[in-house]
Amino acid sequence: MRIDIISVVPDIIQSPFEGSIMKRAQDAGLVEVYFHNLRDYTTNNYKQVDDYPYGGGAGMVLMIAPIEKCISALKAARDYDAIIYMTPDGEVLNQGTANKISLLKNIIVLCGHYKGVDQRVRDLFITHEISIGDYVLSGGELAAAVLCDSIIRLIPGVLGNETSALTDSFQDGLLAPPVYTRPADYNGHKVPEILTSGNTPKIEAWREDQALEITKKKRPDLLT
Ligand code: ADE
Repeated sequence: MRIDIISVVPDIIQSPFEGSIMKRAQDAGLVEVYFHNLRDYTTNNYKQVDDYPYGGGAGMVLMIAPIEKCISALKAARDYDAIIYMTPDGEVLNQGTANKISLLKNIIVLCGHYKGVDQRVRDLFITHEISIGDYVLSGGELAAAVLCDSIIRLIPGVLGNETSALTDSFQDGLLAPPVYTRPADYNGHKVPEILTSGNTPKIEAWREDQALEITKKKRPDLLT
């Protein structure tokens, strides 16, 4: 998979890609991530990428010209399956959307900033609009990092243990069951006995039961 991220402040999004699973995935050649600074696509001397909104009002709006230049340059080199705009008024990201996007080959992720982008960018180039939740961030960069993390870990081969992503919360519509590691007894706080029994079918049944109970308690909305 190839991910091209377009931003006015690419510095603030790079570090999540420089460690842990997102770095391993790149090192293993399973995903390529490229950052594009919108200011490199301006034509004016001041490298201006934003301007006042028509009709007045607070905040600045990202201009269409540099965005179009950047997207056109990328599209001239390859086909893209999705051009995603990170925005609080987009469809709220969930595991199902992450699964679908993880199957794509080439995607562009556009990060908004300030008041957002000129509506014509959305009308003309964007195929998907994604929000990471009902709150407003200062820009789409952190949201783009969240989106990328959620999809990169689903690419086959990225997680050491192939079944790992399958047992994540939400992957089967339920929250994940509790996990424990050594010691089996910590100052009298014991690990549930079933987990040290070695009886795999019984352990699986216990985990399924726990997942259901926890989901009922914490997120009953997932069961309806
Ligand atoms: N940009 C600002 N807030 C955002 C959000 N909640 N999700 C995605 N992009 C955003």
